[in-house]
Amino acid sequence: MGQHRQILLEHINQPDQNSLPGYESRGGYQAIKKALAMDPLAIIEEVKKSGIRGRGGAGFSAGMKWSFVPRNTGKPTYIICNADESEPGTFKDRLLMEKNPHAVIEGMMVAALAVQSKWMCVYIRGEYAYPYTQLKKAVTECYAKGYLGKNIFGSDYSLDLVVHRGAGAYICGEETGLIESLEGKKGQPRLKPPYFPAVLGLYNSPTVVNNVETYAAVPWIINNGADAYAAIGTEKSKGTKLISASGHINKPGVYEIEMGYPFKRFLEEECGGMLNGRKLKAVIPGGSSTPILRAEDIEDAVMDYEGWNKLGTFLGSGGVIVLDDTVDMVDAIQNLAHFYAHESCGQCTPCREGGHWVEKTFRRINNGEGAPGDVEMINSICNQIMGHTICPLGDALVMPVRSFLTKFNDEFKGKIEDALAGKSTPTKSLNASFGDGH
Ligand SMILES: Cc1cc2nc3c(=O)[nH]c(=O)nc-3n(C[C@H](O)[C@H](O)[C@H](O)COP(=O)(O)O)c2cc1C
Repeated sequence: MGQHRQILLEHINQPDQNSLPGYESRGGYQAIKKALAMDPLAIIEEVKKSGIRGRGGAGFSAGMKWSFVPRNTGKPTYIICNADESEPGTFKDRLLMEKNPHAVIEGMMVAALAVQSKWMCVYIRGEYAYPYTQLKKAVTECYAKGYLGKNIFGSDYSLDLVVHRGAGAYICGEETGLIESLEGKKGQPRLKPPYFPAVLGLYNSPTVVNNVETYAAVPWIINNGADAYAAIGTEKSKGTKLISASGHINKPGVYEIEMGYPFKRFLEEECGGMLNGRKLKAVIPGGSSTPILRAEDIEDAVMDYEGWNKLGTFLGSGGVIVLDDTVDMVDAIQNLAHFYAHESCGQCTPCREGGHWVEKTFRRINNGEGAPGDVEMINSICNQIMGHTICPLGDALVMPVRSFLTKFNDEFKGKIEDALAGKSTPTKSLNASFGDGH
């Protein structure tokens, strides 16, 4: 446990790893050949036994999800790869699609066999122009070699893959918003429960939605066995995790770690320590929607699902954002609140209206115009958003907001007191350019 372990990124620096010959020269497309000879249910069992949990944020067992897909419904079954990757601080899927796209495709193929799907789709974030070209190139190579299309690998199984570009909405990363968008509608999430995509997904047919990283790990699991995968990591968090590391560190980038890696060691050894030797102030551990932690909270933190949960936050998508002591926390949360307010799809009133109120109130405090009761009002709005919306985007705003207010309360109160005493200076920040509306 706690090593720098390479499964997904093992060959990432080989310049031809993104080509079919390069991928195949390093053992690529062996897993799908093996899977073609396996019973579909045995594939699901293997993935279940590996313990791999979804890498898109929620951490649900991938094998379990596949096992929920009903068979012989008379309807098509769909495989969707969620490549929308829009959570601030998260950029690991992009690396996989640029440098190891065939691993993603092969993982999807194995999933397709497991649930007997003939149609697959990658829904890729619209702004990802270069990863899109790399992925498309890989798909074209597969069709040219008979790895996709009719009778793949000379078998009697036919399988197609479409790459669909999103149009720049964060909400289309939420799996049911994604499905609506793919159907040509507004990307507005569906109510879950009662129905989940595994049973009623795309065109009301059984649909598996998994993250890019989740699929990319599947070939290794099939090639090396579930037990080998389950031997990596901790008791409940199996395998490796890609971490997108950004902020005030010397070496920002994407790192692959074994689950259970100690955070302080990660910061020093992988990220090269704090930028300019400055003091660590806070860490957002799993993408911008996960609660922030203070430097003193993370002394013994370990990077896995349970490790972060113990500290009241989440592994999420693995987007680690490191903040040094120069960061103004009021300014930082105003920036994040702006993102969530702007990205609300507008379907649910608490999220659509509440997000903007929260953002506006933070802006007022930040501009030196805060009033007594502002923090309490933000908390009250948060109470009305949390758990009261169709999808978790509202919660994704509330979680960081509450944590900033709790952990850095003095900074908010300080700015309000300064405003009342007439000695405040508005923070000159990135936020100033957002203007009044959005
Ligand atoms: C607002 C919102 C945005 C999301 N964005 C993404 C995303 O960009 N990529 C992703 O894989 N999952 C995203 N998710 C999670 C998906 O809904 C879904 O849980 C995930 O794609 C399932 O794949 P996994 O089980 O492999 O993690 C988002 C969820 C929410 C609520």
